[in-house]
Amino acid sequence: MTSTERFSWDRLIQQAESLLEGCSNPVSNAANLSALLYQELSGISWVGFYFKHGETLLVGPFQGKPACVSIALGQGVCGRAAVSRKTLRVADVDTFDGHIACDPEARSELVVPLVREGELLGVLDVDSTLLNRFSRHDEAGFNAVAQIYLSSIV
Ligand code: SME
Repeated sequence: MTSTERFSWDRLIQQAESLLEGCSNPVSNAANLSALLYQELSGISWVGFYFKHGETLLVGPFQGKPACVSIALGQGVCGRAAVSRKTLRVADVDTFDGHIACDPEARSELVVPLVREGELLGVLDVDSTLLNRFSRHDEAGFNAVAQIYLSSIV
């Protein structure tokens, strides 16, 4: 699979909004959102959160195999997305200089920085064992889900 253009992000976005409604705890909402994304999307091997602690990103709630605990800001796809505050969509992680292979089977990755009122809180990270798993459509979908998360927390 190289594209999920037919995937209904509208439906998933509605599910995410309903799921987080009534809870503003950042850990609880990250946990439930990870579970929802992992359940609903095909071809996802890992999805979850890293939260900023000083100059480091520490792993938060996720679904998938155990992951790297700590990533320095500026390192890997996560650290680069965090510092640049831009979503990074990597079609082939082998071509990304500095990619951190928590799972050697991961082939493509998408990382959304979580920035609220100018403050970097962390990143939402998604991995796939498929090459080029994430389309522009998916990028927009994950960006929207990240905004729902940011709006939900205290
Ligand atoms: N591949 C990421 C590390 C985190 S894992 O994918 C869960 C990176 O290069 O930052």
